[in-house]
Amino acid sequence: VDTVKLAVIPGDGIGPEVVGQALKALAAATEGSGVAFEQTEFSLGAARYLATGDVLTDDDLAAIKGHDAILLGAVGGVPGDPRLAGANIERGLLLKLRFELDHYVNLRPSVLYPGVASPLAAPGDIDFVVVREGTEGPYVGNGGAIRVGTPAEVANEVSVNTAYGVERVVRYAFAAASARPRKKLTLVHKTNVLVFAGSLWKRTVDAVAAEFPDVAVDYLHVDAATIFLVTDPARFDVIVTDNLFGDILTDLAGAISGGIGLAASGNINPDGRFPSMFEPVHGSAPDIAGQGIADPTAAILSVALLLDHLGRAEAAQKVQRAVVADIAERGDSRRTTSEVGDAIAARIGALD
Ligand code: NAD
Ligand code: IPM
Ligand code: MN
Repeated sequence: VDTVKLAVIPGDGIGPEVVGQALKALAAATEGSGVAFEQTEFSLGAARYLATGDVLTDDDLAAIKGHDAILLGAVGGVPGDPRLAGANIERGLLLKLRFELDHYVNLRPSVLYPGVASPLAAPGDIDFVVVREGTEGPYVGNGGAIRVGTPAEVANEVSVNTAYGVERVVRYAFAAASARPRKKLTLVHKTNVLVFAGSLWKRTVDAVAAEFPDVAVDYLHVDAATIFLVTDPARFDVIVTDNLFGDILTDLAGAISGGIGLAASGNINPDGRFPSMFEPVHGSAPDIAGQGIADPTAAILSVALLLDHLGRAEAAQKVQRAVVADIAERGDSRRTTSEVGDAIAARIGALD
């Protein structure tokens, strides 16, 4: 029996609620498959900060690095909570993990599954994946402010784009496109205004394209991309884009393909030097936390991405198939978080 060391970070709000269901699906899908998941739970997030003042210690980080993969629920307290004013848990925990573990690919698939209502009148066949750069761009914290609070305040937030960083994520996106039936890659940027970064992204895509003659290449400015995501999402196959554009586009992508409760993601270190981290796209949802009504589907689909990443394609397929079957029949029935989790786990168990 192979052993996989899994770090589990349930986090805050609905995070622990949905992670509990995701772990049920993981157990059902891997039972008797010759792989055992040895889990270590890390208590991190707003609750931990309020209790101890720590966001992510060096010891936490070192311990997490010793695992094969990470499953995360969601972190973040109630927006506006004054006790969290000095913490910045999103930067100090979530982004720190993405940067320290070199998660340079943030993989965010969007599929409109049969039976799911899209808010679009004519959604068509939605099946695309956003390859969002995860370690650079405006997220790096390269900024500062002077004369804060005065009428002469200046605040800078500089987007960092390196040839190394852009090339590796673009190469990953081409390989992903090449492996998909439609073999189409769309670069999304804003080359008409962000001329320096835009030029680097464009030249990199053109150069790597020469190595993937089977992949058709397209380009859209990010503002136009939001139009087509609403009017013609079926035109997309693989989208490659920078960290901030990718953040914004993937919330829109979630909304058009059935809602944030279904949107799964992987923060991938393709080199395998560090553990990759899988999490729903949504946050801790303080407005519904504790009520047992959060949809755990995004967290469960994140387990499918995790299994795929670990080379457990068969187990990943089981999770995927059970979710698709559940979605097809759920209609607008209102089930609790654990009812959805139990139903999907039972379906997994019934697959051969
Ligand atoms: P959110 O995603 O937590 O919630 C937005 C809306 O979607 C809310 O109405 C919520 O009830 C609903 N929602 C989210 N997930 C759902 C689910 N599984 N089932 C049903 N409804 C769901 O975004 P927010 O309110 O802007 O942020 C709340 C906190 O989470 C903040 O502290 C934010 O920084 C943090 N956050 C964390 C992550 C993460 O950990 N990856 C991501 C986004 C936001
Ligand atoms: C996401 C979230 C994060 C991001 C925040 C919470 C730092 O919105 O995972 O999409 O901006 O990447
Ligand atoms: Mn986001």
